[in-house]
Amino acid sequence: MSTTPRRPPVGDLPDDEFRRALHRAADLIADYVRNPAAHRVSPRLAPGGLRALLPSAPPAQGEALDALLDDYQSLIVPNSTHWNHPGFLAYFANSATAPGILGEMLAAALNVNAMLWRTGPAATELEEHVCDWLRQMMDLPPEFRGHINDTASISSLLAIAAARQNIGDPAMRDEGMSGRSDLPRLTVYASEQAHSSIDKALITLGLGLRSLRRIPVNGDFQMDAAALAERIDADRTAGMRPFAVVATVGSTSTTSIDPLMRVAEAVRERGLWLHVDAAYAGSAAICPEVRALMAGMELADSIVVNPHKWLFTPVDCSVLYLRNPDALRAAFALTPDYLKTTEAGVTNLMDYGPQLGRRFRALKLWMVIRGFGVEGLRSRIRRHVELAQEFRRWVEADPRFEICAPSPLSVVCFRLLHGNTPEAQDAANERLLATVNADGAILLSSTRLRGRIVLRVAIGNVHTGREHVLKAWDLIRDGAGGQAG
Ligand SMILES: Cc1ncc(COP(=O)(O)O)c(C=O)c1O
Repeated sequence: MSTTPRRPPVGDLPDDEFRRALHRAADLIADYVRNPAAHRVSPRLAPGGLRALLPSAPPAQGEALDALLDDYQSLIVPNSTHWNHPGFLAYFANSATAPGILGEMLAAALNVNAMLWRTGPAATELEEHVCDWLRQMMDLPPEFRGHINDTASISSLLAIAAARQNIGDPAMRDEGMSGRSDLPRLTVYASEQAHSSIDKALITLGLGLRSLRRIPVNGDFQMDAAALAERIDADRTAGMRPFAVVATVGSTSTTSIDPLMRVAEAVRERGLWLHVDAAYAGSAAICPEVRALMAGMELADSIVVNPHKWLFTPVDCSVLYLRNPDALRAAFALTPDYLKTTEAGVTNLMDYGPQLGRRFRALKLWMVIRGFGVEGLRSRIRRHVELAQEFRRWVEADPRFEICAPSPLSVVCFRLLHGNTPEAQDAANERLLATVNADGAILLSSTRLRGRIVLRVAIGNVHTGREHVLKAWDLIRDGAGGQAG
């Protein structure tokens, strides 16, 4: 009797199994989002701890989806740092909210790659549309055109690439910059408080870290506009080619806001490109009273804002606005034969950067804006600012602590004054941070200001309420008390 060998299975998993798993995943997600505080903010996992629990080789045969979800629950969730946790007060806290999660799930199912208008008509047009909604919400002029990248690091890199293209060097695209005796050093300016993504952009673009001129800040960590102007002029006199300035709106350590009007004036007078890094704080521009703190942002050539930081959109989602998107297209547009399409006058998102493929990120942003509405988004941001201001008052009232920077938004920088030397104080603050974070209910982060270790409380999670900020303050005070002896 001859036997026919069994053919390996083909196609996707059976519909009924998928459907069952989806329903279970929906419950897992809803339960998790309802109460992320059921977990420690940061797990006790030691490095390598998760890998030790995983099989060293992949399974030869498919496993039941239920088994995968079991392992997700028992291995992945408890060993994750929970950015969705209301006690997550580190870095720039953010949140994956209900409408954003829906958008993310649906985008995965649709699996659109919006490299060309033709390959993702809805994704492309929704992206243009939703970026325009956000532009209106941030009270930016209509000439700004936005598109979505993964991160602010990439958005800023693209902005600087566009600025470089804009200097009008006809050989830039073909010859590049190396080995050219006709090209002076191209210089970029940013404050001492600018994010490290600007350094990385200069490395990536082949400009080199030495081409980044760090401009001093004032006592409030804002760029000194007069020093900026002087440095640009001195570089020009020395034969360099200054071409871009990066101003920060909401710096990473303190959320300081550079004096945009004065910076923009210095930049315009000298014919440079002004990029504004508003990765975190740009979202708060939807509140008119906060937008007033950012007067001059509208004078920029490019602006980055990350809805995945403070606009309740799951990571990743970074919007880059350009006053003249043609500069970016001039830097990157390149259409090989296999990507040619016939539609005229459409946006092909592949023209706006080096990456070809693009996720449908606009879907989640669209759902977030619709799900909460502009007023709903504003009231949540305002609540965070209020909570931070209240926390700041508690710190100010306790003589064991010192406030280390202004708090224009929802971040408070402070430190414990325990110890007789600056080094001893640094060590005390490091111990305090470790003690607070070890509890598992709260996660704080630290930075260095004027050479000293400083703790940060950053409020930006949609679930964070007064009780979580109070809990943080209790832990901080207890930790400080523990160092008294
Ligand atoms: C001011 C600022 N710019 C840029 C970034 C980089 O953001 P991303 O992780 O989206 O690259 C950060 C990150 O916190 C930031 O604070």
